[in-house]
Amino acid sequence: MHFLKVRDIPAGDLHHIIERGIAIKQHPETVSDALAGRTLAMLFQKTSTRTRFSFEVGMTQLGGHAIFAETRLTNLGIADVRDEGKVISRYVDLIMARMRRNTDLMLLAEGSEVPVINGLDEKYHPAQALTDVMTIHEKLGSVEGQKVVYVGIANNVSNSLAMATIMLGGRFVLCVPEHDPEARDDEHAAFLRDHDTYAETADIDEAMNGADVVYTDTWVNLEYFSDPDFAEEKERRIATFMPYQVNEDLLARSGKDTTLVMHCLPAHKGYEVNDTVLYHPNSVVFDQAENRLHAQKALMLYLLDKLD
Ligand code: CP
Ligand code: NVA
Repeated sequence: MHFLKVRDIPAGDLHHIIERGIAIKQHPETVSDALAGRTLAMLFQKTSTRTRFSFEVGMTQLGGHAIFAETRLTNLGIADVRDEGKVISRYVDLIMARMRRNTDLMLLAEGSEVPVINGLDEKYHPAQALTDVMTIHEKLGSVEGQKVVYVGIANNVSNSLAMATIMLGGRFVLCVPEHDPEARDDEHAAFLRDHDTYAETADIDEAMNGADVVYTDTWVNLEYFSDPDFAEEKERRIATFMPYQVNEDLLARSGKDTTLVMHCLPAHKGYEVNDTVLYHPNSVVFDQAENRLHAQKALMLYLLDKLD
């Protein structure tokens, strides 16, 4: 079984993984040698802080070992991705890959004889979403019935977060003026729109009213942020998205003083979120980042049939 998108894991199992993730956070010693002798390969075509550190440390804390590889220093770029996936899988027990293109990730998974975890592509970020719903469950007691509002650009992060929220019985509102064209997935969108717990609106007041969680992400993906060829589009997006900045005014529109602020990080302060809200008492962004470690330990155990 792979974890390339949220729907690869049934809702009941997702729920179990997040409950076990919270228990592992409280008692890490219970799984400290659960993956002794096992190896995780970590392949990166893009930069990373959280994904790289949390998976590597997670594997260490489970008694296993992780190998970090930038794909440009491997032969993935010059060989058949399926063949390279097959070969790597003959050495290791799990693969986590951050590929720029979902199509390449699918090829890697097709060749691999061991589970492959998506560490972010242009369409999805399922390991992030797993952590996000675990954090909501940890902070609010459950995802069920919570109103999760995503404000900014519809992208890989919002795709996976929407799916995980809906699957666990939450309500999801996508409040965006535009979609990242690279993240479009019509079949995924149709699945979400089939649920009356899913809504889309560009109206901030309508979206924020009664929000239990407000979530945002960068308007420009990591690989484009400092790309001179993307500079014009970046300026256009800043102008378009600035009314959707998560700031004190937007947060107050929930009408509640308990609305949680979430962000997958890295944040671009002064753009999608301002300093006041990023460091607001309601902000859980650093607990959320820490939870990557705990949620992914439970995920790796699950994919290797070691989660009780
Ligand atoms: N949120 C996230 O995936 O962060 P990194 O890009 O730093 O891994
Ligand atoms: N949407 C961002 C998320 C980074 C964690 C990107 O794809 O670069």
